[in-house]
Amino acid sequence: MAVALYVHHSQYNTVSFSKPEKSRVCSCPQCLTDGDPWFWELINSAPQPFLSEDYETSEDDFKWWKGVQWEKRNFTLYNATLSKLFQVIPRVPGVVGSSPDRCRTCAVVGNSGNLNGSSYGSLIDGHDIVIRMNRGLTKGYEEDVGKKTTHHVMYPQSAMRLDNSSRLVFVPFNIYDLQWIINLFSSLFHLENRAKSSNRIANKDLVMILNPAFMRYVHEAWLDKKGRYPSTGFIAVALSMQMCDEINVFGFGADRDGNWNHYFEQIKNKKLRTGPHAGNHEYTIIEELHNKEKIQFFVPQ
Ligand code: C5P
Repeated sequence: MAVALYVHHSQYNTVSFSKPEKSRVCSCPQCLTDGDPWFWELINSAPQPFLSEDYETSEDDFKWWKGVQWEKRNFTLYNATLSKLFQVIPRVPGVVGSSPDRCRTCAVVGNSGNLNGSSYGSLIDGHDIVIRMNRGLTKGYEEDVGKKTTHHVMYPQSAMRLDNSSRLVFVPFNIYDLQWIINLFSSLFHLENRAKSSNRIANKDLVMILNPAFMRYVHEAWLDKKGRYPSTGFIAVALSMQMCDEINVFGFGADRDGNWNHYFEQIKNKKLRTGPHAGNHEYTIIEELHNKEKIQFFVPQ
C-alpha cells in the first residue's frame, strides 16, 4: 500500500502580517497565506490569472509571451484575436475568493507515473477543486487518481475531451492557439462541420483562458526564469494558490531514470525529459513549499 512520504502537521502560525486584515483569511486549520509576509506578497503580486474582456495585456507581457514559442505576429493581431474570442466564449466564470468562513481545498494532480499503485483516488476526490492537466484521464485509474475534475489545464497539442461539468483552463502559447479555440467553439464552425460538432472538447460556458502575464509571473517570480517557460503542472500549482486556502499536490516527479513518465502509459521513449521546462527546479520548489508547510506534497513510496 502506498504511503505519503511526507507527514504534514497542521498548526496555527502565530506570525502576523503587515496587513492585519489578511491575518485570518479562511476557515481551514491553516490558510495558505498565514504567516510569512513574503509568501503573501508573492501570491498577491500575481496578475489576474485568467483573461477577461476588459483586461488589457501590456505590450511588454506580449513581447515576453511572443518569445515563448516564437510567435512572429504582432500585438494588434493579438488584441483583435482576443476581442473575437470573447465574442465566442461567455464571460469568464470568476474565481471564488477567500473568506473567513470558507476553507477552499485544492488537489493539483500532475501526470507522473508515481501515481500508479498510490491509492490516492478517494483522497484526491475529497477536495473542493481538483485540477488535472493535459492527457490526464481518470477512466480506468480511479483508484489511484480519483474521478473528480473541476478544472483541466491544457493546450491544443495536449487537448483531450472533457466532461460537461469540468472547466477548461486553456493555456495559449501563441496567437494560433487562440485562433484554435475560437474555431473550436464558434457556432459557424460547428454548422459547417456538423460531423465534428459532437467532438466538442469542453463545455463552452466553462472556458477560462490563462493570462500570458500570469505565465510570465510564474516564470519570473516563482522559477527565477529557469527553463524557457513553466510546465503545465507548475502553472497549475501556481494557479491553485489563487484559488485555494489549502493545497495538496499529487503526481509530480520523474522516474528513477529521470524520465517524465505518465501514469496512463508505458514509457516508450526512454529519453522523455522535461523539454523546455526546468523540471528538477520545479520539483525542488514544490518540495520546498512542502517543507515550509505551505502545501502538502504527496509522493508514494
Ligand atoms: O507530461 P505532462 O506535461 O502531460 O504532465 C503534466 C504535468 O505533470 C507536467 O507539466 C509536470 O509538471 C508534471 N509531471 C511530473 N512528473 C512526471 C510527469 C508529469 O512532475 N513524471
